[in-house]
Amino acid sequence: MPTVQEIRQASADEEPLTMLTAYDAPTAELVDAAGIDMILVGDSMGNAVLGYDSTLPVTMDDVAGHTGAVVRATEDALVVADMPFLSYGATDDAGIENAGRLVKEAGANAVKIESGPHTVELTERLVQLGIPVMAHLGLTPQRLNQVGGYTRQGTTEADAREIRDLARRHEEAGAFSLVLEHVPSELAAEVTADLDVPVIGIGAGPETDGQVLVLTDVIGLSASPPPFAESFGDVRGEIADAVASYREAVEDGDFPD
Ligand code: KIV
Repeated sequence: MPTVQEIRQASADEEPLTMLTAYDAPTAELVDAAGIDMILVGDSMGNAVLGYDSTLPVTMDDVAGHTGAVVRATEDALVVADMPFLSYGATDDAGIENAGRLVKEAGANAVKIESGPHTVELTERLVQLGIPVMAHLGLTPQRLNQVGGYTRQGTTEADAREIRDLARRHEEAGAFSLVLEHVPSELAAEVTADLDVPVIGIGAGPETDGQVLVLTDVIGLSASPPPFAESFGDVRGEIADAVASYREAVEDGDFPD
C-alpha cells in the first residue's frame, strides 16, 4: 500500500498518481487489483449509487458503512473516506469525532474534507491527532445551494487567488494532498507548481500530480456523467444485456434447464 508519506512525496515529475472512487467490496477489489494508488469512498455515492440527486443527503452512517466494505476488500490501495455534508465545520469537536469514526470504526487510512477557510484549523487538529487529511478545493459539491450549480470554479482572478491561498493554507496545516475539482487547467497547473504536496485533479486538466474520477463514470454505468468525465467501458450496456438475457431465459423456460 502506498503510505500517506509516499503519496505526500509524489510529484508531477514522476508517474501521475491514480485515484478512483469505490463504494462496495466487489468494485473496490477490482480497483485495487488494477493497481490504482488510492480509493476514495466519496460522498459522490449519493448520486452514484444511493439514488439521490446531490451529495447533501449522504450521512456519516452511509460513508462509514461503505468505507468498511471497501476497506475489507482492499489490500494495496490507500483508502480515503469522504467527510459528508455537515459532519464537520459546525464545531471542530464534531469534525474530529466523525473523522475519528471513519478511521477507527471503518478502517480508512485518511479522510477527505471539502475545504474552505473554516477547515484550516480542523485540518491542523486532525493531523496533530494522527488523522491524515486530503483537502478539496475548486468545485465543492456540498456547497451546491451556495454556488447554484456544478459550474467551473476559479474563473475570476479573485476566485483563483482564493483557491491558491486556501491551497497553501491547507498544505501548511498539514494536508497530505489536495483534490482540485473543475477549475481552469492554468489555475490547476499554478497550484500544482506552488504546492509541495500532490494535487489530484478532476476536470482540472493534465498538469496536476494525479487524476481522480468517479468509478461509475469510468466504467460507463452512470446515466449522466459530468462533462469532464471519461468513460472507459460500457457496464450499463453489459448489465442491461445480462438482465434482459436472464429474463428471456426464465420466461422461455431455458433457465433453469
Ligand atoms: O465524492 C467524490 O467522489 C469526490 C471526487 C469527485 C473527488 O469528491
